[in-house]
Amino acid sequence: MAVRAFEGKDHAAAYWQFRVTPQELISKIVSSMDKKTPKQFNLAVDVGCGSGQGTKLLAPYFTKVVGTDISPAQLEMASANSNLPNVSYRQCPAEELPFASGEVDLVTAMTAAHWLDRPRFIQEADRVLRPGGCMALLSYTLDMDLEYGDIAEALTDICKEFYDVLRPFRYSYLGPSSKKLYAEMFESCSYPDKE
Ligand SMILES: C[S@@+](CC[C@H](N)C(=O)[O-])C[C@H]1O[C@@H](n2cnc3c(N)ncnc32)[C@H](O)[C@@H]1O
Repeated sequence: MAVRAFEGKDHAAAYWQFRVTPQELISKIVSSMDKKTPKQFNLAVDVGCGSGQGTKLLAPYFTKVVGTDISPAQLEMASANSNLPNVSYRQCPAEELPFASGEVDLVTAMTAAHWLDRPRFIQEADRVLRPGGCMALLSYTLDMDLEYGDIAEALTDICKEFYDVLRPFRYSYLGPSSKKLYAEMFESCSYPDKE
């Protein structure tokens, strides 16, 4: 199953311009991997990579980084804005990743996992990960507090008002709360060390 809500070229261009770049989270993920299995930083796969700004953040830490997405327009935007020699992009469903079992050190899905066929994706990510590899599912929620100088509170209020208006139009596939979906994915993983 693929939610094809991100396909247009204009959508991909807006993504490239405005999506968040979770730099701090990526550093945290890599340092947590480093504590568990130092020096195993060969291949990272960023699933549902969109226009690739999160994918690029992985480049300094891995020999090879592959961003994957179902949308050709998003991948075109990602490729056009990347000149990093160790980063490439591939079109494929998140539920059928073109990697050998145990080949991947890190699988990320940045603001993407909730859109996927979640049980199949988790199973597929688990298949491609090496023993002790890392699956990192990043996202933000609509009840976030924004930070921006001394207008943080006002911005948070505006954002809340904006989301309150949009909420009735939310995709029914996601249900009322993504937090719940992430909690379910978290519970479904039987790894001994989950955070
Ligand atoms: C909300 S966007 C996130 C993009 C990017 N990771 C970011 O943080 O900006 C979700 C992405 O998942 C992709 N997607 C949705 N369903 C998919 C599937 N089944 N397999 C692969 N990609 C999928 C969409 O094309 C889209 O680019």
